[in-house]
Amino acid sequence: MASTKKIACVGAGYVGGPTMAVIAKQFKNCIVTVVDINKERIDAWNSDTLPFYEPGLDEIVKEVRGKNLFFSTDVDKAIIENDIIFIAVNTPTKDYGVGKGMAADLQHWETIARQIRDVVKSDKIIVEKSTLPVKTAEAMETILNTGSSLHFEVLSNPEFLAEATAINDLLFPDRVLIGSRETESGQKARDELVKIYRSWVPNENIITTNTFSSELTKLVSNTFLAQRVSSINAISALCEITGADVDEVAKAVGADTRIGSKFLKASIGFGGSCFRKDILNLIYICRMYKLPEIATYFENVIHMNNFQQQRFVDNVIQSMFNTVADRKILMLGCAFKANTDDVRDSPSLPVAKTLMSEKARLVISDPKAMKNMKKELGDPNNVDFIEDPYEAAKDCHAILIITEWELFETLDYQKLFDVMIKPAYLFDGRNMVDREACFEIGFNVYSIGKAPLIH
Ligand code: UDX
Ligand code: UDX
Repeated sequence: MASTKKIACVGAGYVGGPTMAVIAKQFKNCIVTVVDINKERIDAWNSDTLPFYEPGLDEIVKEVRGKNLFFSTDVDKAIIENDIIFIAVNTPTKDYGVGKGMAADLQHWETIARQIRDVVKSDKIIVEKSTLPVKTAEAMETILNTGSSLHFEVLSNPEFLAEATAINDLLFPDRVLIGSRETESGQKARDELVKIYRSWVPNENIITTNTFSSELTKLVSNTFLAQRVSSINAISALCEITGADVDEVAKAVGADTRIGSKFLKASIGFGGSCFRKDILNLIYICRMYKLPEIATYFENVIHMNNFQQQRFVDNVIQSMFNTVADRKILMLGCAFKANTDDVRDSPSLPVAKTLMSEKARLVISDPKAMKNMKKELGDPNNVDFIEDPYEAAKDCHAILIITEWELFETLDYQKLFDVMIKPAYLFDGRNMVDREACFEIGFNVYSIGKAPLIH
């Protein structure tokens, strides 16, 4: 029988936690230890209330925790005792110094590389899970192999899971991408990782490539997805003026198999921890390699997204006679998308901040993300957080749909209308309500990419 694989993962976040839980479930012949410097997070992983909401995650963790999946804060011990070390720490956009606002902040990465070099006593395979600039693996290898008699092989294995569908994405991935050096030891390390994934991913879905292609692919994938959202959102502005309906346009355009139907849903704009960060990263790399035209080309994906978010909130203010001061406004949803409690870079943030600066009285209602939103906004005293949408809508002038929670589709809009101040406004940032029915009830209805219905 093959020897048990000893795997560690540094970073117990949205990526590290679910990925390791699925590896432990699907590849029985391993012991996985997930470590994090954040004790509170590790305590949560070891409790009945996991640190964040992700459909299907609880069941898997319950199944494997304490058997071949462990959570700990002892980073040194984990990197000393295990042979394959995944790194899934966060890599936010730099908020200081050179590359501020664009480049990825690699300080955690560097710290971990040095920590590994200083404490380990045997050869290791290091696997990049975090999204990183191209050539990070090379830099990491340089740090690790400088002044050490041990051998470190760094692989790139970017994560393509999307929050809210992470478990499904991990169990049935379109592809697993593994980048390695083309040297003999690089290929050997790559084969070790391939073996792990092969226990549940079909061979044809495992793509092996060189390290740089792999690192770049992650940035390009997210940029292309975001680009589609920005493209359809750009068209939505045109639809609102011309009387075309953006959902109909998207449906017909997406029916062309060369284009495909996914990521064509017009919206209030994209959010989440990855899109903006990864595009900025790609732009920064283009500028660094003296390709300003290419940087500008991709920059517009972000400009379009900022424009769409601002356009939404400007429309709210303009439609309500250019003043929302002291008006009560309900935001339905604050998560960056449905089925997650994550508010990182959520469109709800610029919308809430603009309305607050206009002195509106905000009420926010979300089934999962209110705690994170409260933290993000610094718990201001002119914002109420009320989970029950009917309670939250009392005496409001307007409802803004920010997140596409299924719950908001099934609400009784007559009941909401009845408790609101008239005229009552409905701004649907996700095109999810039956707008004709809401108009019939009495709402002034504003959708994305459709002419408004006004009484
Ligand atoms: C991930 C990826 O790592 C990132 O590159 C990708 O683009 C988005 O998703 P995510 O898992 O969402 O990040 O981040 P987060 O939930 O913040 O988790 C990172 C964890 O790493 C945190 O719990 C943090 O405490 C931990 N960490 C960070 C360490 O354990 N050590 C460090 O030195 C730094
Ligand atoms: C993304 C990538 O999909 C994933 O592969 C990568 O590993 C991490 O980044 P995530 O950020 O979790 O995942 O969410 P995603 O489902 O891609 O949605 C991003 C944003 O785009 C959300 O705010 C979503 O509401 C928005 N979106 C998506 C649209 O506005 N319209 C669409 O048609 C699709």
